[in-house]
Amino acid sequence: MKLMIVGATGLVGRHVLELALADRAVGQVIAPARRPLATHPKLISPQVDFDRLPAEADWWRVDAVICALGTTMRTAGSREAFFRVDHDYPLAIAELAHRHGTKTYVLNSALGADADSRFFYNRTKGQLERALQTMGFESLTFVRPGLIGGHRDEFRPGERLATVLLKIGGPLLPRRWQINPAENIARAMLCAALGHKSGVHTVESAELA
Ligand SMILES: NC(=O)c1ccc[n+]([C@@H]2O[C@H](COP(=O)([O-])OP(=O)(O)OC[C@H]3O[C@@H](n4cnc5c(N)ncnc54)[C@H](OP(=O)(O)O)[C@@H]3O)[C@@H](O)[C@H]2O)c1
Repeated sequence: MKLMIVGATGLVGRHVLELALADRAVGQVIAPARRPLATHPKLISPQVDFDRLPAEADWWRVDAVICALGTTMRTAGSREAFFRVDHDYPLAIAELAHRHGTKTYVLNSALGADADSRFFYNRTKGQLERALQTMGFESLTFVRPGLIGGHRDEFRPGERLATVLLKIGGPLLPRRWQINPAENIARAMLCAALGHKSGVHTVESAELA
């Protein structure tokens, strides 16, 4: 299969890329990114500006897309900029891939995604999930982690604190609030892409702990 991975330079995306390149069922990986990735014989990584995606590029013709793109409010600097990265980019990618014949889309969403939520973050993820459901993919999967575990170069004080607290209190908490290792999320997403199960599916945080 030909698989597109978006966000392949990120914490979850790096794991998806590693698993996909090692998987015999994946013949080719297309990973559009804004910075270069290490070369691999199975990998094509076009360098793109996500505000100006090349609509007619041949590499949109893939069997499945895995999207692990996203930013933080702190990095984005404003709600508008956050919404553009976490909602508009994944949707634009879905539209272009769908137009070129892609049947399967797998999104790294988030615990609490809800289009009507009072919280901007949850609302953004929920609105994206809702928009994707109108696009006509044969197989659509939302993987909804809680706090993602794994090594980051970037310092995110809120996430560091939450990680420490969850490590201490984790065993006492319901499974859905426990840390979700990035590798578990990546496995669930690759499994959904390869499985191509028809309909809309959700993988909840409790299954990713
Ligand atoms: N952090 C958590 O605990 C948590 C919990 C639940 C859900 N999530 C969601 O899970 C998803 C993946 O999270 P993650 O921690 O793996 O993310 P991450 O490590 O921050 O990686 C994000 C990816 O998105 C790309 N990206 C960010 N801003 C971009 C921009 N302006 N233009 C183009 N590409 C851009 C990054 O590319 P560069 O390398 O070029 O920056 C990177 O490949 C995100 O949607 C996030 O909202 C996170």
